[in-house]
Amino acid sequence: MTDINFQRAALQLLRDCQSAGLTHLPPPSESLAVPAPSEVLQAAPETIPENVHEQDISNETLEAVVNTTPENTLPPENRVAALAALSASVSQCERCQELAETRTQAVFGVGNPDAKVMFIGEAPGADEDKQGEPFVGRAGQLLTKIIEACGWTREEIYICNILRCRPPDNRNPTDEEANNCREYLDGQISIIEPDYIVCWGSVAAKNLLNQETPIGRMRGKFFEYGRAKVICTYHPSYLLRNPAAKKPVWEDMKLLLNDMGLTPP
Ligand code: URA
Repeated sequence: MTDINFQRAALQLLRDCQSAGLTHLPPPSESLAVPAPSEVLQAAPETIPENVHEQDISNETLEAVVNTTPENTLPPENRVAALAALSASVSQCERCQELAETRTQAVFGVGNPDAKVMFIGEAPGADEDKQGEPFVGRAGQLLTKIIEACGWTREEIYICNILRCRPPDNRNPTDEEANNCREYLDGQISIIEPDYIVCWGSVAAKNLLNQETPIGRMRGKFFEYGRAKVICTYHPSYLLRNPAAKKPVWEDMKLLLNDMGLTPP
């Protein structure tokens, strides 16, 4: 790796750790090895070690990650480390050659590692590719308004995409790209264990739930993915082009809020 690539990878790793909620790094004597995502996700211990602290980002911590039974969920400090490890793998990912060659950086995901609600979009666009954060462009600004209309902040929920790299010219993700990235998406879902997932747009709905049904017929009801209840609704980019679709989206948000026992503002 050239110096500049090394520098870029190191910066990306730090950014990913930060956006995964990491606030401390271990002293230099402890190594911060980056396991493959499959290692991160498969190294599910019988029980989560009790002596793991946020500052302790050792290999042991990185491996002590996923246990998805409701009785034994990951404590917050392990979620942060697990997301940071997965994010570090994603930043090095070259599974989709074209995307790896054309991206500025991978866009892992952002938000609360303990979120009850996870939002899944399609793929990063130009703004997201530049800034390394999902949904920061025009569609993202509209999404932020929807989040606030629900009475939340962006920091309270978790936001990611079907793909972690921008497809050139914002073309739709191919099935192969979505399959390549699925391990990362499922990893994020396993670590965060959200109660609810919102699929924004047909690409998210189709890929997560393996359905070909048009989004207009998927909205307005709940699906299941693992232990999460899933709502599918129109993508914010579609709302920018078709403002009349904001009404059904707000109905979907009210359905979600009501099911969560929250009163829509
Ligand atoms: N559209 C998406 O689906 N995801 C983003 O992150 C930005 C725009």
